[in-house]
Amino acid sequence: MEYRILIVGSGAREHAIARSISKTQIDHQLFCIASNKNPGIMNICDELILGDIENVDFIVENAIQKKCNLAIIGPENPLSKGVVDRLKENNIPSIGPTKDLAQIETSKSFARDLMKEYNIDGLPIYQSFTTMNGVKECLANHGENYVLKYDGLAGGKGVKVSGEHIFNHEEALDYCQGIISSNGKFVIEEKFIGEEFSLMSFSDGKTLKHMPVIQDHKRAYEGDEGPNTGGMGTYSDKDHSLPFLNKEDVKKAKETNEKIIRALYKKFGERYIGVLYGGFMVTEDGVKVIEYNARFGDPEAMNVLTLLETDLLTIFKSMVNGDLDSANVKFKNQATVCKYAVPIGYPTDPVKGSSVDVSMIADDEVISYGSVNTQNDKIILAGSRALCITELGDTIAEAELVVEKKISKVKGSLFHRTDIGKSELIDKKVERMNKIR
Ligand code: GLY
Repeated sequence: MEYRILIVGSGAREHAIARSISKTQIDHQLFCIASNKNPGIMNICDELILGDIENVDFIVENAIQKKCNLAIIGPENPLSKGVVDRLKENNIPSIGPTKDLAQIETSKSFARDLMKEYNIDGLPIYQSFTTMNGVKECLANHGENYVLKYDGLAGGKGVKVSGEHIFNHEEALDYCQGIISSNGKFVIEEKFIGEEFSLMSFSDGKTLKHMPVIQDHKRAYEGDEGPNTGGMGTYSDKDHSLPFLNKEDVKKAKETNEKIIRALYKKFGERYIGVLYGGFMVTEDGVKVIEYNARFGDPEAMNVLTLLETDLLTIFKSMVNGDLDSANVKFKNQATVCKYAVPIGYPTDPVKGSSVDVSMIADDEVISYGSVNTQNDKIILAGSRALCITELGDTIAEAELVVEKKISKVKGSLFHRTDIGKSELIDKKVERMNKIR
């Protein structure tokens, strides 16, 4: 059977997915619904269809027209709009959960309530609000350690952490009032102190196959300073754990992802087919859940897909067919580092429209293109994270050296974080964790 695959999204994550799929021996054609003319995806796909990647009608019409029999949904917004439900109605299976199940990412209160209802460990003290009634009292109870979460998708800008983004209760009340004034909902929860890590798992709704654990750096500037971004770079270690974690931490994260999938099945009677991304923090009281995402992380996808030894399309087939338990999902025992080159001024006031030159990088395979366009054979900055380089190594330090060498050769109005993956930064995390435990 020929697989006619539609990828929705055109960032680096979707480029990495397309690259992995293109390596399969299974007969296939690849289509991509894209918001930008991503040169990497254009090289791989049979057709790049430019358009609104959040327009469900447009996606479904194209999937039907191209006779697609599998869709892979990259970002969260189309999931929140029910694209998988609509594709399902048209007998097109997807990698990505339906709207109900995607609430694990799209509604912060849903995710917390699910954990509470099904007694899943790692839950903070939390309260959801649709009015300002009780907000002052709740903040007073939390003191100086709280997190405010807008209860919906906000492109990473909806979460405000005390001491990092919000510095007193007045600012907190202003933020909450702003949400209520626009008819929104929010959650106030306890702030955890520790180190973050993410664990993504392939899911067919019953069985999970876990991926290597990853560390993401969300802050824009060196030393984890500056505004939050989608992620400036990531690393993973040879043993599929991280230097500041122990075996119990990883086991706990795996069990938690498994419990979430079981809880979702019990609640909706429906299989979660897709990638479940658990964002965790290891604290003095063990592993806690920060948030869940209903998709591959970006840049995390670059790390895990570079390590993946098993054919990705075969894994996706098993997920759709519900026989992931019989799939042998294997990853290389190597470390990875991925770093993004982003436009100068990113994320607040990024340069757009100027060209990027990657001709000094001989190996195209290590580049994943993100927010760039192709114009007259030139690569043009489109305003968000432009491209990333991912490398393998026997150690994180070895992979980092190669990434640094290559990313420094990219010419354009760009910057990247030189510190991600360097021992100085990792050793600090290990020391900090040793003090916390
Ligand atoms: N890198 C974090 C995310 O994909 O949400």
